Amino acid sequence: MQHGPDDEVVLRVRDDGSHELRVNGVFVMDDVETSSERFLASHVVDLGARDVLVGGLGLGFTARELLARDVASVVVAELHHEVVEAVDLPDDPRLTVVVGDVLDVVTGTATGSLDAILLDVDNGPDFLVHDRNATLYGADFVGVCAARLRPTGHLAIWSMADSAAVRSNLADHFATVTATAIPVNLQGRAESYWVLTGSIPQR
Ligand SMILES: C[S@@+](CC[C@H](N)C(=O)[O-])C[C@H]1O[C@@H](n2cnc3c(N)ncnc32)[C@H](O)[C@@H]1O
Repeated sequence: MQHGPDDEVVLRVRDDGSHELRVNGVFVMDDVETSSERFLASHVVDLGARDVLVGGLGLGFTARELLARDVASVVVAELHHEVVEAVDLPDDPRLTVVVGDVLDVVTGTATGSLDAILLDVDNGPDFLVHDRNATLYGADFVGVCAARLRPTGHLAIWSMADSAAVRSNLADHFATVTATAIPVNLQGRAESYWVLTGSIPQR
């Protein structure tokens, strides 16, 4: 599926009071199990990140987790203005929200200016809601991200499943690659989501 201005974005409240985000009828996320979205933020702050760029606002759990911690700046790039208008974010001078494709926002960011880039724009490289987002998991864009990071920086990618291809792309541009499984409870089923992280960009 290509994404564009005609995407149908629906943020709805379910009968049980939980919130759900769908794009063009495809489930993107809900607010029932958000530990992996919050981990995406907390683990880079624990590694020392202060200036962070996030791709994908979603329901805002990654962004709010960053702002709850000792960060200096948070830029969130979100494709759909409907999501930005619907999601409650704190009124915080450290936060900038940009409506646009994270690919363009990262590309337009100054070289060597960020401590971390967090990508949670889709369900991972093998379960895309938007076909065009395949580029974001590819070697070229991983290299673009690496160039925007400071020497101790991190690129962390949320994924529904581990991905050997993403780990290999990270290994081409970073000194260290880690794959962390985050246990999640999905309607009674014990599963894992993944955060794949490259640290220390190699130029
Ligand atoms: C799974 S949600 C993000 C969840 C988020 N981490 C949270 O804590 O709620 C994915 C978000 O990325 C947005 N998105 C998809 N493709 C994008 C792109 N190329 N650039 C920016 N945002 C994108 C979607 O509209 C959606 O809001």
